[in-house]
Amino acid sequence: AFNVKIASSGKTYCVPAGRTVASVLADNGVTVPTSCEEGVCGTCITRVLDGVPAHRDAYFTDDERARNDQFTPCVSRALSNCLVLDL
Ligand code: FES
Repeated sequence: AFNVKIASSGKTYCVPAGRTVASVLADNGVTVPTSCEEGVCGTCITRVLDGVPAHRDAYFTDDERARNDQFTPCVSRALSNCLVLDL
């Protein structure tokens, strides 16, 4: 499990194994637009202000993933304990 923090509200939510970031946020009223929910369309791209994403998408280039400043919350997770999201 890891945490995601919403920059605008300061609220932090736990993302357990088996749940996606997008679904946990939706449960808490933080809506991220999604479409494919498989990491291929890019609809859900969200800026990452701090922390290191575990990229599981098939959308970004390797260079884009290496910058760690955006991720796809429909499938991607975190390598750090907390991701701060620009939401
Ligand atoms: Fe398509 Fe996340 S909804 S990449």
